[in-house]
Amino acid sequence: MALIGVFDSGVGGLSILDEALRQLPQHDYIYLADSANAPYGEKSSDWIAVRSLVLCKYLANNGCDAIVIACNTATAEAIKHIRAELDIPIVGVEPGIKPAAMQTQNGIVGVLATEATLKSDKFRALLATLPENCHVIKQSGAGLVPLIEAGKADSEDALELLGQHLAPILDAGADTLVLGCTHYPFLRKAIRKLLGDSITLVDTSDAVVRQLKRQVESLHQVTPSQDRGTVMFISSKDESSLLAMAKDLMFSDLQSHSISSKQLGEIA
Ligand code: DGL
Repeated sequence: MALIGVFDSGVGGLSILDEALRQLPQHDYIYLADSANAPYGEKSSDWIAVRSLVLCKYLANNGCDAIVIACNTATAEAIKHIRAELDIPIVGVEPGIKPAAMQTQNGIVGVLATEATLKSDKFRALLATLPENCHVIKQSGAGLVPLIEAGKADSEDALELLGQHLAPILDAGADTLVLGCTHYPFLRKAIRKLLGDSITLVDTSDAVVRQLKRQVESLHQVTPSQDRGTVMFISSKDESSLLAMAKDLMFSDLQSHSISSKQLGEIA
């Protein structure tokens, strides 16, 4: 069994952890939420790069055999530096515009992501790989992450703000929407309410976990097991609220794992 670190600016990466527990329940996990500093999406590139590296080093120092940067923003700004510093597999998350380009029928794809992700060089490079006949409408989801962090994903406020952000995508006639931030799968219900059932929603958590599986299987110490591993939730803000949100937002049966939580103390 491996110890896998899953890191996000807050509760968004729980959408990835949920999928990881479904596909790889036998491993042990540390979920690290930097909720005291969320949202990352409105911070500078340098700040995101430095902070993400500090937190991934913390996970590596605490015995993680592999790390998932379960945050599109941190992946865009920091994965290169993290891979250069740490000698363990690092799996990142990026907006699924490639699968979206393959799934769209009318060639119009909306991407909802953070400001920092949309502005990043990594995202620009990703866009450059798309076929020319694929038209991408980029939209920042500013303000949505704080609402999700506050447990208001299903609120009227979230619905209203989402309606404003999705209007340009709807007006452009997109038939496919990329959820380019790991917090946004928790808005699925609100998105369906606003856009209906016919739009295709693209979320990459399944592909990310399949990539994690390949990486973990390549680690020598991993022996197959039928058991369910442990999950430790660590928050830089409030560990009991992180645990409560995990129980609320995730579909996995957390009770079948041994779970614990703690506050992130001072780290260098
Ligand atoms: N969940 C994150 C992402 O995938 C970060 C959101 C934020 O903190 O702004 O981009």
